[in-house]
Amino acid sequence: MATAMNAGVDEEAEERSEALPDGTSLLGDQFTIDRPLSNGGFGITYLAKDNFLDRDVVIKECYPEVFCQRVGQNVLVRSSQYQDKYRTIIEMFMREARSIAKMRHPNIVGVHRIFEDNHTAYMVLDLIQGRDLLGVINDERETISPERVKEILIKVLDAVDLVHQNDLLHRDISPDNILLDKWGSPVLIDFGAAREEASRQTRAVSAVLIVKDGYSPQEFYFAGGKQSPSSDLYALGATFYHLISGVAPPNSQTRMAEFAGKNPDPCEPLAGRFPEYDAVFLETIDRAMQILPRERIQSANEWLNLINEEGKRVKPLRMRTNDDLGKTLTRLVTETNEYVLNSQPREPVTQPVGLAQKATEAAQLPSWVDEFNRETSEGDEQKTEVERLAAMAQAAEAEKVDMLTEQSKRKKSRWPLSLFKSRYKKPSP
Ligand SMILES: Nc1ncnc2c1ncn2[C@@H]1O[C@H](COP(=O)(O)OP(=O)(O)O)[C@@H](O)[C@H]1O
Ligand SMILES: [Mg+2]
Repeated sequence: MATAMNAGVDEEAEERSEALPDGTSLLGDQFTIDRPLSNGGFGITYLAKDNFLDRDVVIKECYPEVFCQRVGQNVLVRSSQYQDKYRTIIEMFMREARSIAKMRHPNIVGVHRIFEDNHTAYMVLDLIQGRDLLGVINDERETISPERVKEILIKVLDAVDLVHQNDLLHRDISPDNILLDKWGSPVLIDFGAAREEASRQTRAVSAVLIVKDGYSPQEFYFAGGKQSPSSDLYALGATFYHLISGVAPPNSQTRMAEFAGKNPDPCEPLAGRFPEYDAVFLETIDRAMQILPRERIQSANEWLNLINEEGKRVKPLRMRTNDDLGKTLTRLVTETNEYVLNSQPREPVTQPVGLAQKATEAAQLPSWVDEFNRETSEGDEQKTEVERLAAMAQAAEAEKVDMLTEQSKRKKSRWPLSLFKSRYKKPSP
């Protein structure tokens, strides 16, 4: 949270004093704390070691600092009047961990286990090797291409869709709560439902714990504001607004005030400003970030469909409706199958194929194959409709090919193997 991100030296020292010392054992000798990563005011996150499995993990400790304090290793309520509230928060924390654990999704952090120790609760999470989106945004040397931004959004939307299907809200989507793993794939962390419970317990903590300026929608700022899936989508839109424009959107309360005063929206839409992105893609983000919930995109699935529709419009599959081209393709497939049936060797290849042999093979190929290879190697812009379709067919079919001989693999790189592989059988040994 903001407190950790802006922490100065004094604050850091204070955070450490609240955190368990490095080397502390948890759950007997099962886990050892390596060091604290952050103190968000509601929980303390540590890098730790799972001693039984001998691997690094992240452990999150339930530590709502308004209600509790550290005494030795233990976490105790600051005053007995908080006892019930504190217990409710711990239960909420555990319930939340169970809910996250049920949602197995490659873009949602994995929860391995939860346990109680030191009079509080802990959840053990997969350690994501990588960095968060905020770090990427702030690092001037790092740029993410529009295609990658779109891929990341699609993956996060898929994860958020699952969260919503489980009747949960994330409640704290922001650039620092989306990690990019070492393959560049996004992972959603830090669900805020338990924090929400803490804020319900006392108005004093609500502003600190559950609102993140720039990302939280206006309904998060007032007690009783109705939260819905579109609230998460606002925060997700705001996160990608920041990623694309390099600037965090204005606080939604300010936007709301200007809106109420019939003044211009201080949040400048993305559409029309970034020509390197598809117009529809940018418009979806602007729509998700509407001030009034009813004007926003209502579900992650709807957002995904809008992005996918855009994708279809840019890559029309005109072959399907074009009889002439369809016939051409059928002819090419038949011609290729004929060729394979008549000329494919039936013995497995045991020797590397020399240049002379390659030349002989080339001489045996039908003339259009040569033409195809020449044109496809000259760049996409010169591809004909037939070749584009053939290449697409190849990509779609490629996954189904399980066993190819060395020779057929070699051919695949030069001409579209997929066109004939349905008739091609692996030679018996
Ligand atoms: N599973 C994880 N793998 C790697 N780093 C993590 C993981 N969970 C949290 N972190 C790091 O710790 C920071 C704080 O964790 P987070 O769960 O967001 O708590 P909070 O924001 O409440 O302090 C994150 O921004 C991230 O840098
Ligand atoms: Mg966080």
